Amino acid sequence: MDIETIREKAKNDIRDANDAQACEVVRVRYLGRKDGELTNILKSLKDMSLEEKRKFGVGANELKIELNELIENKLKELSTKKERHLDVTKPGKKVALGHLHPLTHIDKQIRDIFSSINFTIVDGPELEDEYHNFDALNIPADHPARDMWDTFWIKQKTKEDGNKHIGKFLMRTHTSPMQIRYMETHKPPFQILVPGRTFRYEATDASHEINFYQVEGLMVGPDVTLANFKFVIETFFKKFFGKELEFRYRPSYFPFVEPGVELDIRLPGGKWLEVMGAGMVHRNVFDAVKYERREVQGFAFGMGLDRLAMIKYGIPDIRLFYSGDARFTEQF
Ligand code: DAH
Repeated sequence: MDIETIREKAKNDIRDANDAQACEVVRVRYLGRKDGELTNILKSLKDMSLEEKRKFGVGANELKIELNELIENKLKELSTKKERHLDVTKPGKKVALGHLHPLTHIDKQIRDIFSSINFTIVDGPELEDEYHNFDALNIPADHPARDMWDTFWIKQKTKEDGNKHIGKFLMRTHTSPMQIRYMETHKPPFQILVPGRTFRYEATDASHEINFYQVEGLMVGPDVTLANFKFVIETFFKKFFGKELEFRYRPSYFPFVEPGVELDIRLPGGKWLEVMGAGMVHRNVFDAVKYERREVQGFAFGMGLDRLAMIKYGIPDIRLFYSGDARFTEQF
Protein backbone atom coordinates (compact mmCIF):
# COMPACT_ATOMS: atom_id res chain seq x y z
CA MET A 1 0.00 0.00 0.00
CA ASP A 2 1.43 3.41 -0.79
CA ILE A 3 1.88 6.28 1.60
CA GLU A 4 -0.72 8.49 -0.01
CA THR A 5 -3.45 5.87 0.37
CA ILE A 6 -2.57 5.34 4.01
CA ARG A 7 -2.67 9.10 4.61
CA GLU A 8 -6.17 9.42 3.14
CA LYS A 9 -7.52 6.43 5.04
CA ALA A 10 -5.97 7.49 8.33
CA LYS A 11 -7.27 11.06 8.02
CA ASN A 12 -10.80 9.77 7.44
CA ASP A 13 -10.53 7.47 10.46
CA ILE A 14 -9.30 10.26 12.70
CA ARG A 15 -12.10 12.54 11.55
CA ASP A 16 -14.67 9.85 12.35
CA ALA A 17 -13.28 8.97 15.76
CA ASN A 18 -15.65 10.56 18.30
CA ASP A 19 -14.07 9.72 21.59
CA ALA A 20 -10.64 9.06 23.09
CA GLN A 21 -11.04 5.34 22.83
CA ALA A 22 -11.76 5.51 19.09
CA CYS A 23 -8.67 7.70 18.66
CA GLU A 24 -6.59 5.02 20.34
CA VAL A 25 -7.98 2.36 18.01
CA VAL A 26 -6.99 4.51 15.01
CA ARG A 27 -3.54 5.11 16.47
CA VAL A 28 -2.94 1.38 16.93
CA ARG A 29 -4.23 0.64 13.45
CA TYR A 30 -1.63 2.85 11.77
CA LEU A 31 1.10 3.46 14.34
CA GLY A 32 0.80 0.41 16.62
CA ARG A 33 4.23 -1.02 17.38
CA LYS A 34 3.34 -4.55 16.41
CA ASP A 35 1.21 -4.38 13.34
CA GLY A 36 0.44 -0.78 12.52
CA GLU A 37 0.05 -0.20 8.80
CA LEU A 38 2.52 2.67 8.76
CA THR A 39 4.79 0.93 11.27
CA ASN A 40 5.07 -2.03 8.94
CA ILE A 41 6.20 0.19 6.10
CA LEU A 42 8.77 1.85 8.35
CA LYS A 43 9.98 -1.54 9.51
CA SER A 44 10.36 -2.77 5.92
CA LEU A 45 12.57 0.20 5.03
CA LYS A 46 15.66 -1.62 6.19
CA ASP A 47 15.18 -4.33 3.57
CA MET A 48 14.74 -1.90 0.72
CA SER A 49 17.28 -0.76 -1.79
CA LEU A 50 18.85 2.61 -1.29
CA GLU A 51 16.72 4.08 -4.04
CA GLU A 52 13.47 2.75 -2.53
CA LYS A 53 14.52 3.95 0.90
CA ARG A 54 14.87 7.45 -0.46
CA LYS A 55 11.52 7.25 -2.16
CA PHE A 56 9.56 5.92 0.85
CA GLY A 57 11.66 6.80 3.86
CA VAL A 58 11.12 10.56 4.03
CA GLY A 59 7.39 10.38 3.20
CA ALA A 60 6.74 7.58 5.70
CA ASN A 61 8.50 9.38 8.53
CA GLU A 62 6.71 12.64 7.73
CA LEU A 63 3.38 10.83 7.77
CA LYS A 64 4.16 9.32 11.16
CA ILE A 65 4.69 12.80 12.60
CA GLU A 66 1.61 14.14 10.86
CA LEU A 67 -0.67 11.36 12.11
CA ASN A 68 0.59 11.70 15.67
CA GLU A 69 -0.17 15.40 15.51
CA LEU A 70 -3.63 14.88 14.04
CA ILE A 71 -4.54 12.37 16.75
CA GLU A 72 -3.19 14.70 19.43
CA ASN A 73 -5.28 17.59 18.12
CA LYS A 74 -8.36 15.46 17.84
CA LEU A 75 -7.97 14.38 21.47
CA LYS A 76 -7.66 18.00 22.54
CA GLU A 77 -10.73 18.94 20.56
CA LEU A 78 -12.72 16.10 22.11
CA SER A 79 -11.77 17.04 25.68
CA THR A 80 -12.63 20.75 25.32
CA LYS A 81 -15.94 19.81 23.78
CA LYS A 82 -16.64 17.73 26.82
CA GLU A 83 -15.86 20.65 29.15
CA ARG A 84 -18.16 22.95 27.28
CA HIS A 85 -21.02 20.55 27.49
CA LEU A 86 -23.40 21.76 30.20
CA ASP A 87 -25.35 19.14 32.04
CA VAL A 88 -28.13 21.11 33.68
CA THR A 89 -29.31 18.10 35.66
CA LYS A 90 -26.02 17.79 37.58
CA PRO A 91 -26.11 18.91 41.22
CA GLY A 92 -24.48 22.37 41.64
CA LYS A 93 -21.04 22.93 43.08
CA LYS A 94 -21.15 24.03 46.71
CA VAL A 95 -19.65 27.46 47.21
CA ALA A 96 -17.52 27.62 50.34
CA LEU A 97 -18.99 30.43 52.45
CA GLY A 98 -16.84 32.47 54.82
CA HIS A 99 -17.78 33.30 58.39
CA LEU A 100 -18.54 36.62 60.01
CA HIS A 101 -15.98 37.49 62.63
CA PRO A 102 -17.40 37.06 66.16
CA LEU A 103 -16.83 40.77 66.85
CA THR A 104 -18.89 41.62 63.76
CA HIS A 105 -21.73 39.48 65.13
CA ILE A 106 -21.59 41.22 68.50
CA ASP A 107 -21.34 44.66 66.91
CA LYS A 108 -24.47 43.97 64.85
CA GLN A 109 -26.43 42.63 67.82
CA ILE A 110 -25.58 45.71 69.90
CA ARG A 111 -26.51 48.12 67.10
CA ASP A 112 -29.81 46.33 66.53
CA ILE A 113 -30.83 46.41 70.18
CA PHE A 114 -30.00 50.10 70.66
CA SER A 115 -31.67 51.05 67.36
CA SER A 116 -34.80 49.29 68.58
CA ILE A 117 -34.92 51.64 71.59
CA ASN A 118 -34.40 54.75 69.47
CA PHE A 119 -30.66 55.35 69.77
CA THR A 120 -28.96 56.90 66.73
CA ILE A 121 -25.83 55.04 65.60
CA VAL A 122 -22.90 57.43 65.05
CA ASP A 123 -19.45 56.90 63.62
CA GLY A 124 -16.25 58.82 64.41
CA PRO A 125 -12.56 59.14 63.51
CA GLU A 126 -9.95 56.69 64.79
CA LEU A 127 -7.26 59.33 64.43
CA GLU A 128 -8.17 61.88 67.09
CA ASP A 129 -6.71 65.03 68.53
CA GLU A 130 -5.65 65.60 72.07
CA TYR A 131 -8.43 68.09 72.70
CA HIS A 132 -11.32 65.73 71.89
CA ASN A 133 -9.74 62.61 73.36
CA PHE A 134 -8.69 64.26 76.63
CA ASP A 135 -9.02 67.98 77.40
CA ALA A 136 -12.68 68.44 76.48
CA LEU A 137 -13.49 65.29 78.48
CA ASN A 138 -12.16 66.97 81.62
CA ILE A 139 -8.77 65.22 81.40
CA PRO A 140 -6.29 68.13 81.22
CA ALA A 141 -2.61 67.67 80.34
CA ASP A 142 -0.49 66.83 83.39
CA HIS A 143 -3.54 65.54 85.24
CA PRO A 144 -2.88 62.12 86.78
CA ALA A 145 -6.11 60.80 85.21
CA ARG A 146 -4.32 60.76 81.84
CA ASP A 147 -2.39 57.75 83.12
CA MET A 148 -5.63 55.75 82.77
CA TRP A 149 -5.09 55.76 79.00
CA ASP A 150 -1.73 54.69 77.57
CA THR A 151 -1.62 56.47 74.29
CA PHE A 152 -0.21 56.04 70.79
CA TRP A 153 0.85 59.58 69.91
CA ILE A 154 1.29 60.46 66.25
CA LYS A 155 4.49 62.15 65.10
CA GLN A 156 3.66 65.41 63.38
CA LYS A 157 4.98 68.75 62.32
CA THR A 158 3.80 71.76 64.30
CA LYS A 159 0.51 73.05 62.98
CA GLU A 160 0.49 76.62 61.71
CA ASP A 161 -3.16 76.71 60.72
CA GLY A 162 -4.62 78.27 63.85
CA ASN A 163 -5.79 74.91 65.23
CA LYS A 164 -3.32 75.03 68.08
CA HIS A 165 -5.95 74.35 70.72
CA ILE A 166 -6.55 70.80 69.42
CA GLY A 167 -2.99 69.81 70.37
CA LYS A 168 -1.25 66.72 69.14
CA PHE A 169 -2.77 63.82 67.22
CA LEU A 170 -3.20 60.32 68.59
CA MET A 171 -5.03 57.05 67.96
CA ARG A 172 -8.19 57.42 70.05
CA THR A 173 -7.84 55.60 73.36
CA HIS A 174 -11.62 55.35 73.78
CA THR A 175 -14.84 56.18 71.94
CA SER A 176 -15.68 58.95 74.45
CA PRO A 177 -14.31 61.78 72.21
CA MET A 178 -17.38 61.22 70.05
CA GLN A 179 -19.46 62.56 72.93
CA ILE A 180 -17.73 65.89 72.37
CA ARG A 181 -17.84 65.77 68.56
CA TYR A 182 -21.54 64.96 68.56
CA MET A 183 -22.50 67.62 71.11
CA GLU A 184 -20.44 70.24 69.23
CA THR A 185 -22.73 69.82 66.24
CA HIS A 186 -26.10 68.79 67.74
CA LYS A 187 -28.63 70.19 70.18
CA PRO A 188 -30.28 68.00 72.85
CA PRO A 189 -32.38 66.01 73.41
CA PHE A 190 -30.77 63.00 71.74
CA GLN A 191 -29.51 59.54 72.47
CA ILE A 192 -26.58 58.10 70.50
CA LEU A 193 -24.52 54.94 70.30
CA VAL A 194 -20.95 55.03 68.97
CA PRO A 195 -19.32 51.68 68.21
CA GLY A 196 -15.71 51.94 67.12
CA ARG A 197 -12.13 50.82 67.13
CA THR A 198 -9.84 52.05 69.88
CA PHE A 199 -6.12 51.83 70.65
CA ARG A 200 -3.92 51.56 73.73
CA TYR A 201 -0.17 51.55 74.00
CA GLU A 202 0.26 48.66 76.38
CA ALA A 203 1.66 45.17 76.83
CA THR A 204 -0.70 42.52 75.48
CA ASP A 205 -1.98 39.58 77.50
CA ALA A 206 -5.13 37.44 77.65
CA SER A 207 -7.29 40.46 78.49
CA HIS A 208 -5.37 43.37 76.90
CA GLU A 209 -4.80 44.21 73.25
CA ILE A 210 -3.29 47.32 71.71
CA ASN A 211 -6.31 47.53 69.43
CA PHE A 212 -9.86 46.65 70.46
CA TYR A 213 -13.46 47.82 70.11
CA GLN A 214 -15.66 49.93 72.33
CA VAL A 215 -19.22 51.10 72.34
CA GLU A 216 -20.03 54.53 73.72
CA GLY A 217 -23.51 55.64 74.72
CA LEU A 218 -24.75 59.15 75.43
CA MET A 219 -28.22 60.43 76.26
CA VAL A 220 -28.78 64.12 76.93
CA GLY A 221 -31.98 66.03 77.61
CA PRO A 222 -33.59 68.41 80.10
CA ASP A 223 -34.34 65.74 82.69
CA VAL A 224 -32.29 62.61 81.94
CA THR A 225 -31.33 60.82 85.15
CA LEU A 226 -29.35 57.82 86.37
CA ALA A 227 -32.67 55.98 86.65
CA ASN A 228 -33.05 56.34 82.87
CA PHE A 229 -29.57 54.91 82.49
CA LYS A 230 -30.43 51.89 84.62
CA PHE A 231 -33.54 51.20 82.59
CA VAL A 232 -31.79 51.54 79.22
CA ILE A 233 -28.76 49.47 80.12
CA GLU A 234 -30.66 46.71 81.89
CA THR A 235 -33.01 46.45 78.90
CA PHE A 236 -29.98 46.17 76.66
CA PHE A 237 -28.20 43.46 78.65
CA LYS A 238 -31.31 41.33 79.07
CA LYS A 239 -31.89 41.42 75.31
CA PHE A 240 -28.23 40.85 74.54
CA PHE A 241 -27.88 37.74 76.69
CA GLY A 242 -31.49 36.66 76.28
CA LYS A 243 -31.63 35.84 79.98
CA GLU A 244 -32.62 37.32 83.31
CA LEU A 245 -29.53 38.90 84.87
CA GLU A 246 -28.49 40.43 88.13
CA PHE A 247 -26.98 43.93 88.13
CA ARG A 248 -24.62 45.59 90.58
CA TYR A 249 -23.60 49.27 90.47
CA ARG A 250 -20.36 50.32 92.17
CA PRO A 251 -19.17 53.91 92.61
CA SER A 252 -16.15 54.64 90.42
CA TYR A 253 -14.13 57.48 88.94
CA PHE A 254 -13.99 58.67 85.35
CA PRO A 255 -13.06 62.32 84.77
CA PHE A 256 -15.96 62.99 82.37
CA VAL A 257 -18.78 61.85 84.68
CA GLU A 258 -20.00 62.77 88.14
CA PRO A 259 -21.08 60.61 89.80
CA GLY A 260 -19.29 57.74 88.05
CA VAL A 261 -20.26 54.09 88.33
CA GLU A 262 -19.10 50.72 87.19
CA LEU A 263 -21.61 48.06 86.29
CA ASP A 264 -21.26 44.38 87.05
CA ILE A 265 -23.59 41.69 85.78
CA ARG A 266 -24.19 38.14 86.89
CA LEU A 267 -25.51 35.48 84.54
CA PRO A 268 -27.62 32.72 86.11
CA GLY A 269 -25.24 30.50 88.11
CA GLY A 270 -22.18 32.58 87.16
CA LYS A 271 -19.89 35.01 88.92
CA TRP A 272 -19.96 38.78 88.91
CA LEU A 273 -18.39 40.29 85.79
CA GLU A 274 -17.42 43.91 85.33
CA VAL A 275 -18.86 45.11 82.01
CA MET A 276 -18.83 48.89 81.77
CA GLY A 277 -18.10 52.35 83.09
CA ALA A 278 -20.79 54.99 83.18
CA GLY A 279 -22.11 58.04 84.95
CA MET A 280 -23.81 61.42 84.70
CA VAL A 281 -22.07 63.74 82.23
CA HIS A 282 -19.71 66.09 84.09
CA ARG A 283 -20.61 69.77 83.88
CA ASN A 284 -17.11 70.62 82.63
CA VAL A 285 -17.90 68.45 79.61
CA PHE A 286 -21.10 70.45 78.97
CA ASP A 287 -19.05 73.63 79.35
CA ALA A 288 -16.60 72.40 76.70
CA VAL A 289 -19.40 72.04 74.15
CA LYS A 290 -21.07 75.28 75.26
CA TYR A 291 -24.24 73.66 76.58
CA GLU A 292 -25.99 75.59 79.32
CA ARG A 293 -25.22 73.29 82.23
CA ARG A 294 -28.39 74.23 84.15
CA GLU A 295 -30.61 73.33 81.21
CA VAL A 296 -29.40 69.83 80.36
CA GLN A 297 -28.22 66.69 81.97
CA GLY A 298 -27.31 63.29 80.64
CA PHE A 299 -25.74 59.94 81.16
CA ALA A 300 -22.81 58.35 79.33
CA PHE A 301 -21.45 54.85 79.27
CA GLY A 302 -18.62 52.95 77.63
CA MET A 303 -17.98 49.24 77.28
CA GLY A 304 -15.56 46.91 75.58
CA LEU A 305 -17.06 44.99 72.70
CA ASP A 306 -14.33 42.34 72.87
CA ARG A 307 -15.10 41.74 76.51
CA LEU A 308 -18.80 41.25 75.81
CA ALA A 309 -17.97 38.80 73.03
CA MET A 310 -15.65 36.89 75.36
CA ILE A 311 -18.39 36.61 77.98
CA LYS A 312 -21.12 35.67 75.52
CA TYR A 313 -19.13 33.04 73.61
CA GLY A 314 -16.82 31.89 76.42
CA ILE A 315 -13.62 33.03 74.67
CA PRO A 316 -10.64 32.89 77.05
CA ASP A 317 -8.12 35.19 75.31
CA ILE A 318 -8.73 38.55 73.60
CA ARG A 319 -5.75 37.98 71.29
CA LEU A 320 -7.69 35.22 69.49
CA PHE A 321 -9.89 37.88 67.86
CA TYR A 322 -6.90 39.35 66.04
CA SER A 323 -4.97 36.15 65.32
CA GLY A 324 -6.44 35.72 61.82
CA ASP A 325 -6.71 32.00 62.61
CA ALA A 326 -9.55 30.48 60.56
CA ARG A 327 -9.92 27.60 63.03
CA PHE A 328 -11.13 30.24 65.49
CA THR A 329 -13.44 32.29 63.26
CA GLU A 330 -14.99 29.21 61.66
CA GLN A 331 -16.66 28.41 64.97
CA PHE A 332 -19.00 31.40 64.72
N1 DAH B 1 -13.99 55.83 78.14
C1 DAH B 1 -13.83 54.94 79.27
C2 DAH B 1 -12.65 53.99 79.03
O1 DAH B 1 -12.26 53.79 77.94
C3 DAH B 1 -15.08 54.13 79.49
C4 DAH B 1 -16.19 54.99 79.98
C5 DAH B 1 -16.40 55.15 81.33
C6 DAH B 1 -17.01 55.67 79.10
C7 DAH B 1 -17.42 55.93 81.80
C8 DAH B 1 -18.05 56.45 79.55
C9 DAH B 1 -18.24 56.59 80.93
O2 DAH B 1 -18.87 57.12 78.73
O3 DAH B 1 -19.26 57.40 81.40
O4 DAH B 1 -12.12 53.47 79.96
